[in-house]
Amino acid sequence: MEKTKKRIFSGIQPTNTPHLGNYLGALVNWIKLQDEYECTYSIVDLHSITVRQDPQKLKKQINESYALLLAMGVDPDKSTAFVQSHNCQHAELSWVLSCYTQFGELSRMTQFKDKSAKHPENVNAGLFTYPVLMAADILAYQADLVPVGIDQKQHLELARNIAQRFNQVHGDTFIVPEPYIAKTGAKVMSLQSPEKKMSKSDENPNGSISVLDDRDTIIRKFKRAVTDSEAVIAYREGKDGINNLMSIYSAVTDKSFEEIEKEFAGKGYGEFKLAVGEVVADHLAPVQNEFAKIIADKKYIDECMRKGAEKAFKTTRKTLQKVYKKVGFIVL
Ligand code: TRP
Repeated sequence: MEKTKKRIFSGIQPTNTPHLGNYLGALVNWIKLQDEYECTYSIVDLHSITVRQDPQKLKKQINESYALLLAMGVDPDKSTAFVQSHNCQHAELSWVLSCYTQFGELSRMTQFKDKSAKHPENVNAGLFTYPVLMAADILAYQADLVPVGIDQKQHLELARNIAQRFNQVHGDTFIVPEPYIAKTGAKVMSLQSPEKKMSKSDENPNGSISVLDDRDTIIRKFKRAVTDSEAVIAYREGKDGINNLMSIYSAVTDKSFEEIEKEFAGKGYGEFKLAVGEVVADHLAPVQNEFAKIIADKKYIDECMRKGAEKAFKTTRKTLQKVYKKVGFIVL
């Protein structure tokens, strides 16, 4: 008998094109996980409006993020790939779960504290309750595992607490999800400030590589990458810039640090930076070509979105009905 696969859920905001760090650190794993797990991946557009968005721009970004997910290799037949707002049950479950979440718990979320300090002009209730919506995303699918970065660990912990609390009051209802820690996945640092993670909010645009940057831009940014004055290509403490370039090169080529050190022994930084830029550009080219094809095919995108939404709705309906019965609503 076939063993039922464990379930994975993860979401990505549509408001920024993923950068190389998102890609090598997380998204590459999303693709790999599809064979071993039952995966559901969502473009979390509901989440993105906690910050004011331009509607036209947002619509374009949702389409592009979805197309990019497919271009990177998320298989809409094998997995469920959908846009969050296409499944109304996220918002419904979120309401129920918000009644099982304490004001104090949400006040302690560091991301809320950071964001509300940064945007004091728009500290809206959605920004505050956002982690409940994220819990609903995960719990609605009865996900066993959630691949998340360190910045989302506190939110996942909250989702676990909410699930446990609900289960305690009403009996087993939700799977309590665990974080999925990838065995592989590179930590990519800024090319300009290699002591910091690569981030879309880097003040210096040369610090981060978008997965849709063209070849010349990628190579130019790598050529400008900050290194050190030692002129030795080796992975060692104190060589943040070179270490980062080596990690990237290793992630893309599968070569070990020793192999890379050998390959570039006696060679200059200029040559090494160019080599890294070239392998990254080569690596992203097929994704970019596929993206160009998909984004031009609106019919195909719509079809996949619709299929994803239907699959997502079917899965979460079971959970929602169970939850509504447990809390005492009349399920017809
Ligand atoms: N909050 C996550 C982020 O900003 C995105 C997200 C929304 C998510 N719902 C999720 C991630 C559920 C994992 C599981 O990156």
